Amino acid sequence: MEESSRRKWWKEGIVYQIYPRSFQDTTGNGIGDLRGIIHRLDYIKSLGVDIIWLNPIYKSPNDDHGYDISDYRSIMEEFGTMSDFDELLMGMKQRGLKLVMDLVVNHSSDEHPWFLESKKSRDNPYRDYYHWWPEEKGTPPKRWSFFDLEENAWKYDPCTKAYYLHCFSVKQPDLNWENSKVRQEIHDLMKFWFDKGVDGFRMDVISFISKDTDFPELPEKYNGDFIPYYANGPRLHEYLHEMNTEVLSKYDVMTVGEGTGISIEQALDFVNEDRKELNMFFHFDLMDLDREPGQMFTMRKEKWKLTDFKRVHSQWDSIFAQKGWGSIYLNNHDFPRAVSRWGNDSKVHWRNAATMLHTFVLTMRGTPYFLYGEEIGMTNIKFNDIEDYRDINTLNRFETIKKEGGNLEAFIENEKHAGRDNARTPMQWDLSENAGFTPIKPWINVNKNYLEGVNVLVQESEEDSVLNYFRRMTHVRKSHATLIYGDYSLLDPENEEIYAYTRSDSKNTFLVLLSFSSRITELTLNELDLGLAKLVISNDEAPHLKNDKKFVLQPYQALIYHLG
Ligand code: GLC
Repeated sequence: MEESSRRKWWKEGIVYQIYPRSFQDTTGNGIGDLRGIIHRLDYIKSLGVDIIWLNPIYKSPNDDHGYDISDYRSIMEEFGTMSDFDELLMGMKQRGLKLVMDLVVNHSSDEHPWFLESKKSRDNPYRDYYHWWPEEKGTPPKRWSFFDLEENAWKYDPCTKAYYLHCFSVKQPDLNWENSKVRQEIHDLMKFWFDKGVDGFRMDVISFISKDTDFPELPEKYNGDFIPYYANGPRLHEYLHEMNTEVLSKYDVMTVGEGTGISIEQALDFVNEDRKELNMFFHFDLMDLDREPGQMFTMRKEKWKLTDFKRVHSQWDSIFAQKGWGSIYLNNHDFPRAVSRWGNDSKVHWRNAATMLHTFVLTMRGTPYFLYGEEIGMTNIKFNDIEDYRDINTLNRFETIKKEGGNLEAFIENEKHAGRDNARTPMQWDLSENAGFTPIKPWINVNKNYLEGVNVLVQESEEDSVLNYFRRMTHVRKSHATLIYGDYSLLDPENEEIYAYTRSDSKNTFLVLLSFSSRITELTLNELDLGLAKLVISNDEAPHLKNDKKFVLQPYQALIYHLG
């Protein structure tokens, strides 16, 4: 394909994800809000990012912090009003920032009027908006649920003597996409936001929307890893294609699906441009790297290996080399902080590790995604006490283990590294109480390391801070189309300490060297002509080129060279 026809704003943009509950409180209730984001727009613009992805801001009883929506067309009261939203959008447009919203339509809240109607009677016009299993058919075949105390996705409702399906919490009933009226409603609500000027959607568990509504027993080979059986249902591609035809194709917008359960073999079925479905999706192969097989939230005992990290990224890059497009992320609101997980959050290595990871994300092919606070190197909070946790996923699993008499200490140890709350603590703005997030006790505790340099105010004033390095790196990426579209080629694949690769096109070649090690390391690259090598950026001032083929890297050092 001609390079010019492959160029798109959503490939060149850098995404900044905001968890609105934790970004900036302006009303003094301990919860972030839309006016808080408005207040910080100049800061966001100054980072060199282009697109803001907002986690759900719609009306919600907050069973799963906004992923349980009770009205898709209004704003959660705690976050503000529709006029705040309009002002936010206008403020973004004035600054040339685009807005991507979260589309959560695998399920709604059980307090959504559709569900309230649906459960009233078996012949209610809204009955088929959800999946019901009448009791006279017997107990429904086992379906596993995230966030359910019994891990059972079927909940019995005595009113109509039937079970409803909820792949997530009991308050998140799954919508029935088989029903064309449901699909029409969803298309309409998407248009509502696009007509307001929203630039795209991140689509929550979009791979789960189609179900085999006979709900057959899961195959015998099923080993507890239910996700592949939930994803890629029989009509999934038909629904996505229809959504594209009916809605997406009518606007210049971007889409990124949450690709839970989508394997690399299936990837192009979603994002090959010719199929007219989605632009890109988030795969989970990296997120699975340090987890028990099939258990997204349980840490594996062995440490993850850099060779696996490279393998995942190299394989996914190659899939999209000719068709489709990828996304690069190291964390989001569901996974722990990048520097704690993939780098090193000890005092001595934190700065280099955080900036090395920025260098990685911003030199890969694929749209880069950053979670608020990643630009200042925010770390996992590692709560010790269940009282401090707020996430339904942690709280309900704790209850289940407690009831079963399981090992609660081991569970908390796991959550310190895997818990979603690590990624949801308040943004660390300055040195005032609660890091300038709120004047009162916040809905979730602030990480105390805001007092030790992990805050925006201090980092603004230090030239070589994590924050200012982030800004330099976004500028580097934007200045070189090669870093966006160029070919990726892995060097020294078996090296467990250094990740080395080139990005190149017909005009330029860049060499990227990243140390994932806490010791000084060396690398010899005989295969490259380094004669004209010019340093583009380094996150460490120490010397790094020993002779013309050999590099010495400081712990977590990142280097980019232009080779000509
Ligand atoms: C997605 C979201 C997660 C949410 C779940 C249910 O995985 O990212 O935060 O809990 O879907 O909506």
